[in-house]
Amino acid sequence: MNKKYFYSALVLILLMATSCQKKEEKIVKPEGLRDVFKDNFLIGAALNVNQILEKDSVQSALIASEFNSVTPENVMKSMLIHPQKDTFNFEIPDKLVALAEKNDMHVQGHTLVWHSQLSPFFKEITDSTEMVEVLTNHINTIVGRYKGKIDAWDVVNEALNDDGTLRKTVFLDVLGEDYLSLVFKIAEKVDPNVELYYNDYSMTNPSKRAGAIKMIKRMQELGTKVNGIGMQGHWDLDTPSLEEIEKSIVDYADLGIKVAITELDVSVIPMPWDFTGADVNVKFESGDATMNPYPNKLPDSIQVKLANRYADIFKLFLKHQDKISRVTLWGVNDGESWKNDWPINGRTNYPLLFDRNNGKKKAYYSIVNLKADSKE
Ligand code: G3I
Repeated sequence: MNKKYFYSALVLILLMATSCQKKEEKIVKPEGLRDVFKDNFLIGAALNVNQILEKDSVQSALIASEFNSVTPENVMKSMLIHPQKDTFNFEIPDKLVALAEKNDMHVQGHTLVWHSQLSPFFKEITDSTEMVEVLTNHINTIVGRYKGKIDAWDVVNEALNDDGTLRKTVFLDVLGEDYLSLVFKIAEKVDPNVELYYNDYSMTNPSKRAGAIKMIKRMQELGTKVNGIGMQGHWDLDTPSLEEIEKSIVDYADLGIKVAITELDVSVIPMPWDFTGADVNVKFESGDATMNPYPNKLPDSIQVKLANRYADIFKLFLKHQDKISRVTLWGVNDGESWKNDWPINGRTNYPLLFDRNNGKKKAYYSIVNLKADSKE
């Protein structure tokens, strides 16, 4: 090859290499919520069985690109994971953990001790020694299996009444009020590195908040490791007020623990009477059509209201990001939300960030835009 051809070929190769590099640089992965909030807090979703089994590839891709934390919506509740004293069902929980590992996600175990969806054998126990044995086996087996794989557990769920007193459960009856410390300590012993949370709804109500604070302080006095409080966010368009949400985040963080917003969904349809909370055991009759006002489509005006509500609460979460470890949506899309069937069956609700076709709603853009605005 003469010199002239050699240099022309070299220039051509260099040009091609640069253009390839530019092309690569141009391939920008679309940012999901996990990227948008990566410097602020984890952003998660509760997954149902179909989502864990990755039945719908479109939705699986969406989950992987939007969220960096997952919580099993149901499959780790005692009735499902430990239905009989000597039977454990790990098949689907294992798949959840594998899905999280594949997508580099935090896993929140939900939940070890809960009076609801409770395996029947617990309810038959009346002797405290037996209860300790059975709980120890329950926690050792489940937490032990996922040691190093599950990052945090909702150790106890919904132990408080709305007035802040301890709920009457078989655990309280048989073991007394320090049963919370007992089960947290069992979990800590099995996996000293796993984070341990107390999780409940209506945690913004002043009397429940006072009860929760008293309960955590008591656990701390007993030397119990409590890493955080999970505030379930089963909220609606107007309640709880931003002031109560903020006060709760601040007061819980003052205990020296993390705050997670664990079950966020914002209902846009009426609650029967003045009922609040998220007690799954309370149900109402279907009532009249006024109780299901948007069976076909959410009017734009309400869509905007929902977007504004999400923006307001995320603004608050960003303001207190130093206290907040994680924000988890209770479900992925509106069609799958438990809020369609509670507290009245068969209604059409729109509480999440993705619509029934997995499309991004105004509410989604409203929270993403908070970060875009702050970059300007
Ligand atoms: O899987 C069965 C199905 O086989 C059966 O045909 C069908 C008939 O009713 O029931 C299905 O089980 C349902 C399950 O959800 C899965 O969809 C249960 O009846 C139903 O009670 C259960 O509801 C769950 C509820 O907890 C009770 O465990 C909701 O999905 C779940 O979103 C909800 O989550 C709770 C949190 O764990 C704690 N905080 C409150 C929150 C909302 O209630």
